[in-house]
Amino acid sequence: MNQTPPKDRVFVALDTPDLARAAHLATALSEVVGGIKVGKEFFTAHGPAGVRAVTGAGGLFLDLKFHDIPNTVAGAVRAAVPLGPDLLTIHAAGGPAMLRAAVAAAAETAGDADVPRPRLLGITVLTSLDDDDLTAVGQHGPVTEQVRRLAALAQETGLDGVVCSPHEIAALRRLCGPDFLLVVPGIRPAWAAADDQKRVLTPAQALAEGADYLVIGRPITGAADPVAAAQRIVAELGES
Ligand code: C5P
Repeated sequence: MNQTPPKDRVFVALDTPDLARAAHLATALSEVVGGIKVGKEFFTAHGPAGVRAVTGAGGLFLDLKFHDIPNTVAGAVRAAVPLGPDLLTIHAAGGPAMLRAAVAAAAETAGDADVPRPRLLGITVLTSLDDDDLTAVGQHGPVTEQVRRLAALAQETGLDGVVCSPHEIAALRRLCGPDFLLVVPGIRPAWAAADDQKRVLTPAQALAEGADYLVIGRPITGAADPVAAAQRIVAELGES
């Protein structure tokens, strides 16, 4: 059972290319949630300096979804570690050698730089892909089986966990055991709009299913008062 306090379970997705807004939100939310998630859009626009501008007291989930030959991914991990990410994503479909190279690079670089080792998360099958899409790229479906296959590979090769959708939590928890991190987007409080998320769970439901960390964007960033929305979510988690 994950004993992490409710506040630290929540990473807020800062899906904006607007650096000033991202920095403002990150500062305002730093005492309220566990951290922020920044992804490829933000990183491509603002780079490491942009990441430093939005990280302070809170945690950092660097969602860059690396996928390349092992040597290149190892180099990308070495470059990312000094930014101090708590969580860093790698495509599990990159294969065993690439995943092992990423794990080794994270451990070595964190030791050399004297920073905490980021926890590496595998990306399994993007939720934008269905069974036909897998066939189109020559992968064996159905999606649920490919998710399990890639989660098992991530675990075998030493990754700390995977990102998964709400409806995959229970099966992956059974498959991968209690210590494998499950980080889950597609989370909606009962009082928030679903937006374009098709299959959602509330924060409390996701934790009850076995999620370790929740990625929540628009219910917080799109609220009239983002701090109040985040506080409400954390309070609800504490009561569940
Ligand atoms: O605003 P919202 O809460 O829907 O944001 C969810 C975040 O999680 C976004 O950054 C989105 O890209 C990410 N994500 C997702 N579904 C996935 C993988 C990542 O919503 N399957």
